[in-house]
Amino acid sequence: MRIVLLGAPGTGKGTQAKFIMEKYNIPQISTGDMLRESIHSKNKIGMIIKNIIEEGKLVSDKIVCNLIKKRIKREDCINGFLLDGFPRTIAQAFYLSKNQIKIDYVLEFIMPYKSILERISGRRIHVQSGRVYHIKFNPPKIQDRDDVTGQLLITRKDDAKESIKNRLEEYEKTHYPLVKYYRNEKKLGNIKYFRIDATHSLSLIKEQIEIILNK
Ligand code: AP5
Repeated sequence: MRIVLLGAPGTGKGTQAKFIMEKYNIPQISTGDMLRESIHSKNKIGMIIKNIIEEGKLVSDKIVCNLIKKRIKREDCINGFLLDGFPRTIAQAFYLSKNQIKIDYVLEFIMPYKSILERISGRRIHVQSGRVYHIKFNPPKIQDRDDVTGQLLITRKDDAKESIKNRLEEYEKTHYPLVKYYRNEKKLGNIKYFRIDATHSLSLIKEQIEIILNK
């Protein structure tokens, strides 16, 4: 099972990715998490992309495609994987098709911008694992602490107001060609494409995704 999650920042892709990963026993491949991990460990890529991410701009196709290339070669991807935040540009989608990386399902998360801002402003993350919380909708058991490790949760730098504005602008620029491409792939019978109303509760969306993937 090879799944792609599409959608604007803060629509809940990463949150649902965790459920899907556990339920279907496939790895979540989040380019955002991988890039943040690079910044955290201060490696070569991390140094290049730190400012780009914090400003809410997109990292180059070359860097993210290379990350994906290496990641999906790993053994845990043999029965499938979940791409969370990739592809994000039409060039990235072409990268997959050019390399014969077939996708089975594309799930597009849809939500008005007003709700996106509420979701993002209350988000807290555990950098090392990528686990995501929300102070109101999905709080940790102990305030500001990760449920599994007890380590401190942080607010993402790119969740600051100015970065969110840039991220939403980037999304506006790149989203439509990508959706058009995948809708066409659906018409050709190459993928299954579903739109998810991301304003629903965590549990309802989870149920809807299970129904889709069990069909
Ligand atoms: P990335 O980490 O991929 O960020 P994003 O796509 O902007 O998405 P988010 O992580 O903001 O949101 P999400 O949809 O996962 O929502 P979440 O589940 O956290 O990318 C970050 C940056 O890296 C990019 O800006 C770019 O610079 C770079 N990058 C990454 N991939 C790239 C690529 N392919 N090409 C180029 N550059 C790339 O949920 C949000 C909040 O809402 C949480 O607090 C959560 O608890 C809460 N929540 C979730 N679902 C619900 C619900 N149903 N009800 C109530 N609350 C909910």
